[in-house]
Amino acid sequence: MTMNEIIIEAKNIHKSFYKQNEHKLEILKGVSLQVESKMISVIVGASGAGKSTLLHILSGLDNADEGEVKIKGTNIFSLHDDKLSKFRNKHIGFVFQFHHLLPEFDAAENVAIPLMIYGETKLKAVKRAEELLALVGLSDRLHHKPAELSGGEQQRVAVARALANNPDIIFADEPTGNLDSINSEALHNLFVKLRDELKVTFLIVTHNPQLVGLGDKVFEMKDGKIF
Ligand SMILES: Nc1ncnc2c1ncn2[C@@H]1O[C@H](COP(=O)(O)OP(=O)(O)O)[C@@H](O)[C@H]1O
Ligand SMILES: [Mg+2]
Repeated sequence: MTMNEIIIEAKNIHKSFYKQNEHKLEILKGVSLQVESKMISVIVGASGAGKSTLLHILSGLDNADEGEVKIKGTNIFSLHDDKLSKFRNKHIGFVFQFHHLLPEFDAAENVAIPLMIYGETKLKAVKRAEELLALVGLSDRLHHKPAELSGGEQQRVAVARALANNPDIIFADEPTGNLDSINSEALHNLFVKLRDELKVTFLIVTHNPQLVGLGDKVFEMKDGKIF
Protein backbone atom coordinates (compact mmCIF):
# COMPACT_ATOMS: atom_id res chain seq x y z
CA MET A 1 0.00 0.00 0.00
CA THR A 2 1.39 3.41 -0.91
CA MET A 3 1.51 5.98 1.82
CA ASN A 4 -0.12 9.35 1.46
CA GLU A 5 2.03 12.43 1.72
CA ILE A 6 3.22 13.32 5.25
CA ILE A 7 1.37 16.58 5.83
CA ILE A 8 2.44 17.29 9.43
CA GLU A 9 5.86 16.40 10.72
CA ALA A 10 6.78 17.21 14.31
CA LYS A 11 10.22 16.55 15.72
CA ASN A 12 11.32 16.59 19.34
CA ILE A 13 8.72 19.03 20.66
CA HIS A 14 9.35 20.21 24.21
CA LYS A 15 7.04 22.43 26.23
CA SER A 16 7.07 23.42 29.90
CA PHE A 17 4.88 25.70 31.93
CA TYR A 18 6.12 27.75 34.87
CA LYS A 19 4.04 28.91 37.79
CA GLN A 20 5.50 31.73 39.88
CA ASN A 21 7.97 30.33 42.43
CA GLU A 22 7.07 26.77 41.59
CA HIS A 23 9.35 24.46 39.74
CA LYS A 24 8.85 23.91 36.07
CA LEU A 25 6.12 21.63 34.81
CA GLU A 26 7.44 19.72 31.84
CA ILE A 27 4.44 18.73 29.73
CA LEU A 28 5.87 17.69 26.37
CA LYS A 29 9.17 15.84 26.64
CA GLY A 30 10.26 15.33 23.07
CA VAL A 31 7.17 14.59 21.00
CA SER A 32 7.73 13.45 17.44
CA LEU A 33 5.00 12.39 15.05
CA GLN A 34 4.09 12.22 11.40
CA VAL A 35 0.55 12.69 10.17
CA GLU A 36 -0.47 11.32 6.79
CA SER A 37 -2.68 13.45 4.59
CA LYS A 38 -6.30 12.58 3.74
CA MET A 39 -6.66 10.44 6.83
CA ILE A 40 -8.26 10.65 10.23
CA SER A 41 -5.56 10.46 12.90
CA VAL A 42 -6.54 10.53 16.55
CA ILE A 43 -4.61 11.31 19.72
CA VAL A 44 -5.66 9.59 22.93
CA GLY A 45 -4.30 9.93 26.45
CA ALA A 46 -5.22 10.71 30.04
CA SER A 47 -6.60 14.07 31.08
CA GLY A 48 -3.71 16.44 31.72
CA ALA A 49 -1.35 14.44 29.48
CA GLY A 50 -0.72 17.47 27.27
CA LYS A 51 -2.96 16.68 24.31
CA SER A 52 -4.44 20.17 23.96
CA THR A 53 -1.01 21.73 24.43
CA LEU A 54 0.34 19.56 21.63
CA LEU A 55 -2.57 20.32 19.29
CA HIS A 56 -2.12 24.06 19.86
CA ILE A 57 1.58 23.79 19.04
CA LEU A 58 1.04 21.67 15.94
CA SER A 59 -1.53 24.12 14.62
CA GLY A 60 0.54 27.24 15.32
CA LEU A 61 -1.73 28.56 18.08
CA ASP A 62 1.07 28.24 20.62
CA ASN A 63 4.84 27.91 20.38
CA ALA A 64 7.15 25.19 21.59
CA ASP A 65 10.30 25.61 23.73
CA GLU A 66 12.22 23.33 21.43
CA GLY A 67 11.67 21.24 18.32
CA GLU A 68 10.23 21.68 14.87
CA VAL A 69 6.82 21.47 13.21
CA LYS A 70 6.55 21.25 9.46
CA ILE A 71 3.21 21.54 7.74
CA LYS A 72 3.30 20.78 4.03
CA GLY A 73 7.07 21.20 4.26
CA THR A 74 6.92 24.66 5.86
CA ASN A 75 8.55 25.14 9.25
CA ILE A 76 5.72 26.98 11.00
CA PHE A 77 7.93 28.29 13.82
CA SER A 78 9.92 30.24 11.22
CA LEU A 79 6.77 32.19 10.29
CA HIS A 80 5.85 35.21 12.35
CA ASP A 81 2.69 37.16 13.08
CA ASP A 82 1.13 38.06 9.78
CA LYS A 83 2.78 35.27 7.81
CA LEU A 84 1.79 32.68 10.37
CA SER A 85 -1.83 33.82 10.43
CA LYS A 86 -1.93 33.79 6.64
CA PHE A 87 -0.46 30.29 6.60
CA ARG A 88 -2.89 29.09 9.24
CA ASN A 89 -5.80 30.68 7.44
CA LYS A 90 -4.88 28.97 4.19
CA HIS A 91 -4.10 25.49 5.47
CA ILE A 92 -5.63 24.97 8.90
CA GLY A 93 -9.07 24.78 10.47
CA PHE A 94 -9.61 24.26 14.19
CA VAL A 95 -12.65 22.84 16.01
CA PHE A 96 -12.74 23.27 19.79
CA GLN A 97 -14.58 21.30 22.45
CA PHE A 98 -16.82 24.30 23.05
CA HIS A 99 -18.01 25.62 19.72
CA HIS A 100 -16.82 29.27 20.21
CA LEU A 101 -19.52 30.55 17.86
CA LEU A 102 -20.49 34.22 18.10
CA PRO A 103 -23.79 34.23 20.03
CA GLU A 104 -25.29 37.31 18.42
CA PHE A 105 -24.90 36.02 14.85
CA ASP A 106 -26.77 33.26 13.04
CA ALA A 107 -25.19 30.09 11.64
CA ALA A 108 -24.66 31.52 8.14
CA GLU A 109 -23.04 34.69 9.54
CA ASN A 110 -20.79 32.70 11.85
CA VAL A 111 -19.39 30.85 8.83
CA ALA A 112 -19.34 33.92 6.55
CA ILE A 113 -17.67 36.40 8.94
CA PRO A 114 -14.19 34.83 8.89
CA LEU A 115 -14.33 34.81 5.09
CA MET A 116 -15.23 38.49 5.05
CA ILE A 117 -12.42 39.30 7.48
CA TYR A 118 -10.05 37.77 4.95
CA GLY A 119 -11.37 39.90 2.13
CA GLU A 120 -14.30 38.01 0.60
CA THR A 121 -17.30 40.08 -0.45
CA LYS A 122 -20.40 39.66 1.67
CA LEU A 123 -22.35 38.14 -1.21
CA LYS A 124 -19.71 35.49 -1.92
CA ALA A 125 -19.07 34.77 1.75
CA VAL A 126 -22.75 34.18 2.45
CA LYS A 127 -23.07 31.94 -0.61
CA ARG A 128 -20.06 29.90 0.50
CA ALA A 129 -21.45 29.72 4.05
CA GLU A 130 -24.72 28.34 2.71
CA GLU A 131 -22.90 25.69 0.67
CA LEU A 132 -20.84 24.64 3.69
CA LEU A 133 -23.84 24.49 5.97
CA ALA A 134 -25.58 22.31 3.37
CA LEU A 135 -22.51 20.06 3.36
CA VAL A 136 -22.77 19.57 7.13
CA GLY A 137 -26.53 18.94 6.89
CA LEU A 138 -27.77 22.29 8.20
CA SER A 139 -29.50 23.89 5.20
CA ASP A 140 -32.60 24.32 7.31
CA ARG A 141 -30.76 26.05 10.16
CA LEU A 142 -29.04 28.93 8.31
CA HIS A 143 -30.68 31.67 10.32
CA HIS A 144 -30.65 30.05 13.74
CA LYS A 145 -28.42 31.64 16.35
CA PRO A 146 -26.14 29.34 18.39
CA ALA A 147 -28.53 29.32 21.38
CA GLU A 148 -31.29 28.09 19.04
CA LEU A 149 -29.24 25.10 17.91
CA SER A 150 -28.57 21.77 19.62
CA GLY A 151 -25.05 20.96 20.82
CA GLY A 152 -24.52 18.69 17.82
CA GLU A 153 -25.75 21.35 15.41
CA GLN A 154 -23.47 23.95 17.03
CA GLN A 155 -20.49 21.67 16.48
CA ARG A 156 -21.47 21.10 12.85
CA VAL A 157 -21.59 24.90 12.35
CA ALA A 158 -18.12 25.04 13.94
CA VAL A 159 -16.94 22.41 11.43
CA ALA A 160 -18.47 24.40 8.54
CA ARG A 161 -16.65 27.50 9.81
CA ALA A 162 -13.38 25.55 10.08
CA LEU A 163 -13.86 24.44 6.44
CA ALA A 164 -14.55 27.93 5.12
CA ASN A 165 -11.14 28.53 3.57
CA ASN A 166 -10.77 25.03 2.18
CA PRO A 167 -8.08 24.01 4.65
CA ASP A 168 -5.95 20.92 4.13
CA ILE A 169 -6.06 20.02 7.81
CA ILE A 170 -8.68 20.20 10.49
CA PHE A 171 -7.50 19.98 14.08
CA ALA A 172 -10.24 19.08 16.55
CA ASP A 173 -9.84 19.07 20.34
CA GLU A 174 -12.38 16.71 21.93
CA PRO A 175 -15.06 17.80 19.45
CA THR A 176 -17.66 15.40 20.83
CA GLY A 177 -16.72 15.96 24.48
CA ASN A 178 -20.03 17.64 25.23
CA LEU A 179 -22.30 15.67 22.90
CA ASP A 180 -24.63 12.73 23.50
CA SER A 181 -24.06 9.53 21.57
CA ILE A 182 -26.46 10.34 18.72
CA ASN A 183 -24.93 13.75 18.06
CA SER A 184 -21.43 12.32 18.43
CA GLU A 185 -22.16 9.69 15.83
CA ALA A 186 -23.49 12.31 13.40
CA LEU A 187 -20.29 14.33 13.84
CA HIS A 188 -18.12 11.23 13.35
CA ASN A 189 -19.98 10.40 10.14
CA LEU A 190 -19.39 13.96 8.98
CA PHE A 191 -15.63 13.65 9.56
CA VAL A 192 -15.55 10.44 7.50
CA LYS A 193 -17.55 12.09 4.71
CA LEU A 194 -15.22 15.12 4.66
CA ARG A 195 -12.17 12.88 4.58
CA ASP A 196 -13.57 10.85 1.69
CA GLU A 197 -15.22 13.60 -0.35
CA LEU A 198 -13.04 16.65 0.31
CA LYS A 199 -9.81 14.75 1.16
CA VAL A 200 -9.45 16.72 4.37
CA THR A 201 -6.80 15.54 6.85
CA PHE A 202 -8.01 15.29 10.44
CA LEU A 203 -5.99 15.29 13.64
CA ILE A 204 -8.43 14.79 16.49
CA VAL A 205 -7.93 14.56 20.24
CA THR A 206 -10.66 12.39 21.71
CA HIS A 207 -11.75 10.16 24.57
CA ASN A 208 -14.62 8.77 22.54
CA PRO A 209 -13.98 5.06 21.82
CA GLN A 210 -16.18 5.18 18.73
CA LEU A 211 -14.14 8.05 17.27
CA VAL A 212 -10.91 6.26 18.19
CA GLY A 213 -12.28 3.27 16.29
CA LEU A 214 -12.77 5.40 13.19
CA GLY A 215 -9.19 6.60 13.26
CA ASP A 216 -6.96 5.47 10.40
CA LYS A 217 -4.10 6.02 12.84
CA VAL A 218 -4.08 6.27 16.63
CA PHE A 219 -1.37 8.09 18.60
CA GLU A 220 -1.13 7.57 22.35
CA MET A 221 0.20 10.36 24.58
CA LYS A 222 1.90 9.20 27.72
CA ASP A 223 4.60 10.61 29.99
CA GLY A 224 5.02 13.61 27.72
CA LYS A 225 5.66 11.56 24.60
CA ILE A 226 3.76 10.03 21.71
CA PHE A 227 3.67 6.31 21.09
N1 LIG B 1 -1.06 27.93 30.21
C1 LIG B 1 -0.74 27.01 31.12
N2 LIG B 1 -0.06 27.33 32.25
C2 LIG B 1 0.28 26.40 33.16
N3 LIG B 1 -0.02 25.10 33.05
C3 LIG B 1 -0.70 24.70 31.97
C4 LIG B 1 -1.11 25.63 30.94
N4 LIG B 1 -1.76 24.93 29.97
C5 LIG B 1 -1.77 23.65 30.37
N5 LIG B 1 -1.15 23.50 31.57
C6 LIG B 1 -0.95 22.23 32.29
O1 LIG B 1 -0.36 21.31 31.40
C7 LIG B 1 -0.92 20.02 31.56
C8 LIG B 1 -1.46 19.53 30.24
O2 LIG B 1 -2.59 20.28 29.86
P1 LIG B 1 -3.43 19.95 28.56
O3 LIG B 1 -2.55 20.05 27.37
O4 LIG B 1 -4.62 20.84 28.58
O5 LIG B 1 -3.83 18.42 28.79
P2 LIG B 1 -4.94 17.51 28.10
O6 LIG B 1 -5.51 18.26 26.94
O7 LIG B 1 -4.24 16.25 27.70
O8 LIG B 1 -5.97 17.24 29.16
C9 LIG B 1 -1.97 20.14 32.65
O9 LIG B 1 -1.41 19.68 33.85
C10 LIG B 1 -2.25 21.62 32.71
O10 LIG B 1 -2.63 22.01 33.99
MG1 LIG C 1 -7.39 18.96 26.52
